[in-house]
Amino acid sequence: MNKLTIIKPDDWHLHLRDSHFMEAVVADSARQFGRAIIMPNLVPPVRNCADALAYRQRICSALPHGSPFNPLMTLYLTDNTSVDDIKAASESEFIYGAKLYPAGATTNSDAGVTDLKKLGPVFESMQKHGLILQIHGEATGPEIDVFDREKVFIDNSLSAIRASFPGLRIVFEHITTSEAVTFVRDGDSNLAATITPHHLLINRNALFRGGIRPHHYCLPIAKREHHRLALLNAATSGEASFFAGTDSAPHSEQAKESACGCAGIFSAHSALELYAEAFEQQNSFTHFETFMSRNGPDFYQLPHNSTTVSLERKSWMVPESLPYPESRLIPFMAGEALQWKLCQDD
Ligand code: DOR
Ligand code: ZN
Repeated sequence: MNKLTIIKPDDWHLHLRDSHFMEAVVADSARQFGRAIIMPNLVPPVRNCADALAYRQRICSALPHGSPFNPLMTLYLTDNTSVDDIKAASESEFIYGAKLYPAGATTNSDAGVTDLKKLGPVFESMQKHGLILQIHGEATGPEIDVFDREKVFIDNSLSAIRASFPGLRIVFEHITTSEAVTFVRDGDSNLAATITPHHLLINRNALFRGGIRPHHYCLPIAKREHHRLALLNAATSGEASFFAGTDSAPHSEQAKESACGCAGIFSAHSALELYAEAFEQQNSFTHFETFMSRNGPDFYQLPHNSTTVSLERKSWMVPESLPYPESRLIPFMAGEALQWKLCQDD
């Protein structure tokens, strides 16, 4: 097989940043994806409808002329999010969820939630109004080993949220462990998970290959090989509860290559090709379209995109760097060869 044509995919988890930083990256996503859930962890965060609609407007203005790319917005939950914020969001045609960052879990999460128990009324309202909860599923206690944070979050928090709000529709974002795969598989149709291309392609050894590799540092951090294999198995299975979400998260070269480097991997430049590389490893494209283009819209109760994209089998090299304001952006797998290339003529 040398050519793959699939329904145009969507990215169900994307960081675009803002202003000229956003302008440097938005075209990459628009080239490959029909829609994307736009993460709200700006500074200050996207807390309410007015913030989300203004941010959406800025994204649309930064898109290449005539691009059909549709940014789907989500609110950033804080200790002060109100049920009125949730109701208003659920009535907006542009807002598709609310994102839970446990405070301190990751980049720009300081304004996140400090006590999940206080969010009861908000979860109740989301359940009632059908607004999707996207979760950064990591426990934050300083005593918890960084590689255990996802599992501890499942055991100590996610299980309880699911039990208390069984009708709440949840996307467990960027899962990294076999425990998360099992938890989602054991769940019902109100629970799904996104999987990133980097967690499909690298394990934690990649962070230390020949020295410390800051461009492989993201949160949740990559885990052991058997976890990666569980993710690959889930993504290629065709099961309805797993779909693509890149978590592409641009940081300048300086911010990554620093004594305290930022978490985040920029994959938007070659996202679709990276996912194809992962499916190629499994030697199975049977469910590629299902994972990339069907399961996500089905969970979000949106139509599939009406156009297609094609990939051809053709070796090419990911650029060593990309332009970024006052700096450069080092894309995931910079300087390495990929086997599938997006066709430009669709
Ligand atoms: O690695 C990450 N980077 N994980 C996140 O959860 C946030 C993201 C970012 O915004 O840079
Ligand atoms: Zn993210």
